[in-house]
Amino acid sequence: MRKPPTLFVAAILIVLGVIWLGVVELARPAGAADPGSLDGLASLSGAVQAPKPFKAAQVHIMNVDKQVLFMVYTSAGRYRAPNLFPGKYEVTVRKAGFGADTQTITLAAGAKATLDFSLREQAGPGVRQGEFGFTSGAGTDVKLLSYDELYPRESGRVLLEKNCMYCHGKNFFPSKQYHETQWNAFIDLMTGVTASERGAMVSPGALSQPDRATLLAYLSRQFGPGSLPRGLRVDTEFPVDETALSKAMYVEYYLPLDPKLDAGNKQRRTQQPHFDQQGNVWYTDRSIPNRIGRVDPRTGEFKDWVMPDPKADPHGLTVDARGHVWFAETAGFHLGELDPATGSIVRYPMDSSGRSKGRGHSPVVDSKQNVWFTVIQGDMIGKWDRQTGKSTVWKVPTQGAAPYGIDLDRDDNVWFAEFRRCKIGKFDPRTEKFTEYVVPSQPCTIRRLGVDSRGMVWYGDFSNGKIGRIDPASGQIVQYDIPMPFSEPYDVWADREDAIWISDGGQGGALIRFDQRAKKFTYYPTPQITDQPKLAITRDGAIWYTPRSSLKAAVGVLYPDVDKIKTLAASY
Ligand code: HEC
Repeated sequence: MRKPPTLFVAAILIVLGVIWLGVVELARPAGAADPGSLDGLASLSGAVQAPKPFKAAQVHIMNVDKQVLFMVYTSAGRYRAPNLFPGKYEVTVRKAGFGADTQTITLAAGAKATLDFSLREQAGPGVRQGEFGFTSGAGTDVKLLSYDELYPRESGRVLLEKNCMYCHGKNFFPSKQYHETQWNAFIDLMTGVTASERGAMVSPGALSQPDRATLLAYLSRQFGPGSLPRGLRVDTEFPVDETALSKAMYVEYYLPLDPKLDAGNKQRRTQQPHFDQQGNVWYTDRSIPNRIGRVDPRTGEFKDWVMPDPKADPHGLTVDARGHVWFAETAGFHLGELDPATGSIVRYPMDSSGRSKGRGHSPVVDSKQNVWFTVIQGDMIGKWDRQTGKSTVWKVPTQGAAPYGIDLDRDDNVWFAEFRRCKIGKFDPRTEKFTEYVVPSQPCTIRRLGVDSRGMVWYGDFSNGKIGRIDPASGQIVQYDIPMPFSEPYDVWADREDAIWISDGGQGGALIRFDQRAKKFTYYPTPQITDQPKLAITRDGAIWYTPRSSLKAAVGVLYPDVDKIKTLAASY
């Protein structure tokens, strides 16, 4: 019997297919599809008028069906937002000193709609600055004052800045109303006079006895039982470059509240984003019950997995080559491995010998698929070995270092931030040796770091508002001041072109692009008041973040140039 001429049939089908595609291409009237939007998506543009000049107003375009926010800025009074999901929208314009009415519009797939706004003058509340740990939006219950009003210029202020505020931030102390005996006890706790599980926060010997007395008197006077809870007002407007901002778009995918799991929750709380091989964005969710979840940026669909220990407090997460998701438990001293295909979760102790205790922080996968992680309490870094399935930990040289953010260079050296002791650590897995780099601006806190394509290590000096770069070859460290007061650089991460991206919750929230060559900072103020503990950058230069302290929990992305969007999928 003769075999069917499969190849011949296939060839005919291919030719027919090509002809058909060509016809479709020709049949589409020129200009009908929005050149800036992907297939099936819509766009909105318009003019924004106001009684007095303004710059870079935020246009909030909220898809109420999907609970996805698109946000663009005006440039010379116009805005343009491509790549919107079809659906029903509420649109409003936000700019300090102005008010606007919300308008609604429904966009069909492929629509190119326009919507104009007129702003009216309206006084708004000041923005509250970030707080130790988490920011609480524009607090209404708390009186907002200037820095000098909160902290009268006396010698106690300098001592507070130097010994305490670099960890606690600028809103912590004015929120307390403690009696002198309580302040005294807390100073003992912080200086290690009273023993605690966490150890001394203030480096031994940093505070002399006379300075301690001055500090105690200052704290008791300013933040005593008779004082009111207050917060820091940040009046400074972000420096805005309308030309850069006119190309940018933020998108925030809001986490749904699960009627069963979130009965007591007002909102959920995302901590860290990471991409998988299918273009999804994974996140840790620290609301209780703790969850690991993912959003598909192409559809806005969420899926969550509740952690085996729902109070283990997951911090960082990462995805290995098999697509398994690894998370580090802060409370549990375990690493977790989720197989999204089956939903099975395995927990591994961070020290298989069982000798150590601690609080885990952030994991990262090396080229051999081992999982490295930081242990913030216990001053360790660790490795889960792919071959043996067992974990080992190593003590870092500096006591009280509190290892935090982690990254690998191309030789699989492990780089980590020593949060409380203002150093950057490097661990060579071949020699098992540590090298520590002392940052020039002591004391400080450093949360995270990232290695760029040339092997330079970038970090944020969170408490002093600087970023720094270590050249591992020479050991040379260069620092740059972020050009706004009260900056709090959290994560610092390079894109493919080695532009450095900084997440800064200091003045209410911005992603900042730092051009290494031009030494130029470009601000992209965030849609919500928030900090953003971790960045993940796609191969196309889209900056993903998790707005941790925002009113609405989300997984968000900044596209610095909307005309370069080729896909909504997120890939490394
Ligand atoms: C290196 C970081 C760091 C420094 C420096 C530091 N603290 Fe703390 N502080 C912490 C941490 C972390 C906690 C939480 C401790 C715990 O839960 O065991 C804390 C807790 C506290 C608390 C109790 C928390 C509460 O809700 O009331 C007070 C008060 C306090 N610190 C005051 C101070 C003062 C005063 C100084 C300066 C002398 C100082 N801290 C320096 C990190 C620091």
